[in-house]
Amino acid sequence: MDQFVKWFRNSTPYINAHRGKTFVVCFGGEVVISPDFPALVQDLTLLASLGVRLVLVHGIAPQFRQRLDRARIALVEHADVPVLPVAALPALKEAIGATRLDIEAGFSSGLPQTPMDGAALRLVSGNFLIARPVGVRDGVDHHHSGEIRRLETPAIRQALQQGAVVLLSPIGYSTTGEAFFLSCESVAMQAAIQLGADKLIFLEEEDAAAVTAGRSSQLDPAQAESRTREAGFSPARRQAWMGCIQACRSGVPRAHLIPRGQEGALLLELFTRDGIGTLITAGTYDVVREATIDDIGGLLALIAPLEAQGILVHRSREQLELEIANFILMERDQTILACAALYTFPGEEAGEIACVAVHPDYRELGLGHDLLAHLEQRAWTRGLRWLFVLTTQTAHWFIEHGYRPARIEDLPVARQALYNFKRNSKVFIKALSAAPAARRPIA
Ligand SMILES: CC(C)(COP(=O)(O)OP(=O)(O)OC[C@H]1O[C@@H](n2cnc3c(N)ncnc32)[C@H](O)[C@@H]1OP(=O)(O)O)[C@@H](O)C(=O)NCCC(=O)NCCS
Repeated sequence: MDQFVKWFRNSTPYINAHRGKTFVVCFGGEVVISPDFPALVQDLTLLASLGVRLVLVHGIAPQFRQRLDRARIALVEHADVPVLPVAALPALKEAIGATRLDIEAGFSSGLPQTPMDGAALRLVSGNFLIARPVGVRDGVDHHHSGEIRRLETPAIRQALQQGAVVLLSPIGYSTTGEAFFLSCESVAMQAAIQLGADKLIFLEEEDAAAVTAGRSSQLDPAQAESRTREAGFSPARRQAWMGCIQACRSGVPRAHLIPRGQEGALLLELFTRDGIGTLITAGTYDVVREATIDDIGGLLALIAPLEAQGILVHRSREQLELEIANFILMERDQTILACAALYTFPGEEAGEIACVAVHPDYRELGLGHDLLAHLEQRAWTRGLRWLFVLTTQTAHWFIEHGYRPARIEDLPVARQALYNFKRNSKVFIKALSAAPAARRPIA
């Protein structure tokens, strides 16, 4: 019960942050015929009921394959694009029709015996995609394989504004009325870009854990692209990843790749601080900024356990309020991960580094280093030329950052008077010789 209350409270910032946002969610045809589909429908319905504007894009791989097999048609690919002869069109239309109907049925069942009972959503689908033929490449005619020309974004936006969930299938129509097969990944990517979506989300069929174990789950587009070139990265996965990468480069703030086999994957990704999938984002995810009076509660929660252990000097709420302008912090999704403070002694061109604290879950990731670099840069620009720190248990960390042992008498006079002999902290000093480069910008 305690865990539930904690989880629910922690998810509140995400509920607020996601309201009114547009998410494009792409999933394969596999999930539609799997026993997990009702759970996915339930999670998507929950998202919509929290005010998220949803555009769903579905694949049809198993449905199409089954019908092609039945018609004894073998599809070939050329330059990674399927060649789709006219003879395969009936199988394509049937596969899309059947999958779409299954999805519509799933969303119309009223979700009996689930917490979302009676919360059926209105799905809207239609001729939202204008396509053109891939055409002839290297002499090979791709027939009914197509590329997206544009999306009917005003119609889609209108449907979203009216509270409907928009469902896009991997098929588009040319202005001459012909149908063309599209990859669901490219539909999702284009939808996210052209609608200016806040998130593009791919539910991956493959178990991502095997590939991403022990790695950072937050990547910028360049890092993600080099990951796709690694051995063992399947072509099917690559399409989704490249869709995310391109979407990010075209202005979509965040793209998520989530292992759909994990129970509640979508909710874990969207309503917990660290998520469970891979996040690709071109923007700054962890933000370093100056602390404000509104951060006092979060700062106290971060430093109180360290004060209790005697690692940091105790600061009361009132003292923190008075000294808040000295603090900078690093936050992720409105949660404070780390903080540090700089107290200045301008008469002596000196500054004190204090209260450097990183949340235990985020240690040894370089956050402490980044905050210290920011403070050193800030000190330099304020005309300070040397810094000191008083520490009981973190001496070596500061030594590794260029601080040298010193005496109490080396401190600014005003600070010497405040030295707490009972605490018996060690003194370290660093001379600043040039503006140190900070790795992350102050937001
Ligand atoms: C000290 C602290 C701020 C470091 O932050 P961090 O983000 O974990 O550190 P970084 O990722 O930048 O650096 C990690 C390195 O510092 C080392 N390190 C961490 N704490 C250390 C300590 N107390 N003494 C010596 N080295 C330490 C780690 O072993 C690691 O070394 P490695 O890269 O060789 O493995 C963090 O551990 C913390 O909050 N500690 C408790 C509060 C504290 O001691 N504050 C300083 C008082 S002013």
